[in-house]
Amino acid sequence: MLANVADYRELARRRLSRIAFDYLEGGAEDGKTLARNLAAWDAPLFQSRVLRDVSSIDPSVRIFGQPQALPMIVGPTGLNGLYWPKAEEVLARAAHAAGLPFVLSTASTSLIEDVRAATTGDLWLQLYVQQDRRIAETTMRRAVDAGYSTLMLTVDTTVHGVRDHDVRNSFKLPLRPTPRLAWDVLTHPRWCWRMLRQGGSPQLVNLARSVGERADIKRQAATMSRQMDMSMDWNAIGWLRQHWPGRVMVKGILSLEDALLAARYGADGVVLSNHGGRQLEDAPSPLQLLPAVKDALGDRLTVLVDGGVRRGSDVIKAVGLGAAGVLLGRAPLYGLSATGPQGVAEVLRILRNEYEITLRLLGLRDSRQLGEEIFMPGYRERLARV
Ligand SMILES: Cc1cc2nc3c(=O)[nH]c(=O)nc-3n(C[C@H](O)[C@H](O)[C@H](O)COP(=O)(O)O)c2cc1C
Repeated sequence: MLANVADYRELARRRLSRIAFDYLEGGAEDGKTLARNLAAWDAPLFQSRVLRDVSSIDPSVRIFGQPQALPMIVGPTGLNGLYWPKAEEVLARAAHAAGLPFVLSTASTSLIEDVRAATTGDLWLQLYVQQDRRIAETTMRRAVDAGYSTLMLTVDTTVHGVRDHDVRNSFKLPLRPTPRLAWDVLTHPRWCWRMLRQGGSPQLVNLARSVGERADIKRQAATMSRQMDMSMDWNAIGWLRQHWPGRVMVKGILSLEDALLAARYGADGVVLSNHGGRQLEDAPSPLQLLPAVKDALGDRLTVLVDGGVRRGSDVIKAVGLGAAGVLLGRAPLYGLSATGPQGVAEVLRILRNEYEITLRLLGLRDSRQLGEEIFMPGYRERLARV
C-alpha cells in the first residue's frame, strides 16, 4: 500500500526508463531552485486551534467564480505520453472525477480535441507562442471550439533551461535509438511495453496539428517547440484577447513588479511559478513571493502558485498565504507513471485526504476560513530565509 506522493514518486522512479524519469524529475543546472521549491513549504509553521466543532467540513472553493472540490488544479506538463499511453486523457478524466480543472499543455502528446472528447470536465489551455504566431492562433481557435474555458500563457520559457540530465541522455523527441536508450529500454520492460502499445515514441501531435499538415510534420513540431517567440512583450495580452474570449492567466511570474504589470495589462490572473525549478537556476520559490504579491494586489487578480506541492498541507499553506489555489505539476505524474489511471486518482485522493485532515487539525471547517492566522508568528521571515 502506497501512503503518500513520495511513495508514488519512488515507484515511478523504478518503473520509468531513466530517460523518462530524468525528464520528469530533473531541475535546471544544479537543482538549487528545485530544492528551494520543496524546502519553502517547511518554513511556515502552523498555529492550530482546538475545541472547535469540525465534525463536518467543506474544502471546496471557487476559482474565477467556478466551484471546484479543492483549491488544486492539475497543471500543464508537456510530453506526458512518455509515462503512459493517452496520458492527457487519463489526467483530464482523473481531474474531473476529483472535481478539479485540468490544464492541457501546448506540448501535449494528445490532441486538444481528443482530450475534450475524453471528459466533460473544466479544461484550460496552456499556451506557448512560437515565432510564427499563426501557430498559437490556430491552437487557441481549436481550444475555443472545443470549449476550453481558460488560457494560461507561459512566459518563463523564452529559451529552454539548462538541463544537464537531458544532455547526458541525448533526450529529444521523437526518441532516437542510441546504445544508452537501448539499455534503458531493456532494463525497463514494463515502460517499453507501454510505449509499444501507443505505437512507439510519443509525439507533439498537438503542436503538429496547429502547424499544419506538412510532410514529416511531427519531427518539425519538435523543432518548432524550441522556436519560441523571444520578442514577445506585455502587449501579447492584448493580442491574446483578440483570439481568446475567456479568462487569461500569465504563468511564470517571479517578481512583484511583473505581477503588477499583469494587472495593468489586463490579465485575469497570474501563476507564481518557476516552472518547477526547470528553467532559471537560483530563482526564489514562488511561495516566497506570495505574501508580497498579495499585499500589493489584494483581490485584483486571481493568484495561483506552484512548485513542489507534494502534501495536502502544502495546499493549505498556499491558501493561507493568499493563493486562490495551487497547480500540481509532478505529483499526478508520479501516480500516472507508477500505475496509470488508478495512480493518478490515488494521488489526488491522498492530497484531498491530507488537506481535509490538516483543515480539521487546524480547527477549521471551511477553505474560506484559511488566512495568515493559521501560522505561528515569524512565518514571513522564516519563508524569506529559505
Ligand atoms: C515534466 C514537466 C513538464 C512540464 N511541462 C510544462 C509545459 O509544457 N508548460 C508549462 O507551462 N509548464 C510545464 N511544466 C511546469 C509545470 O506546469 C509546473 O509549473 C511545475 O511542474 C510545478 O512544480 P512541481 O512539479 O514541483 O509541482 C512542466 C513541469 C514538468 C515537471
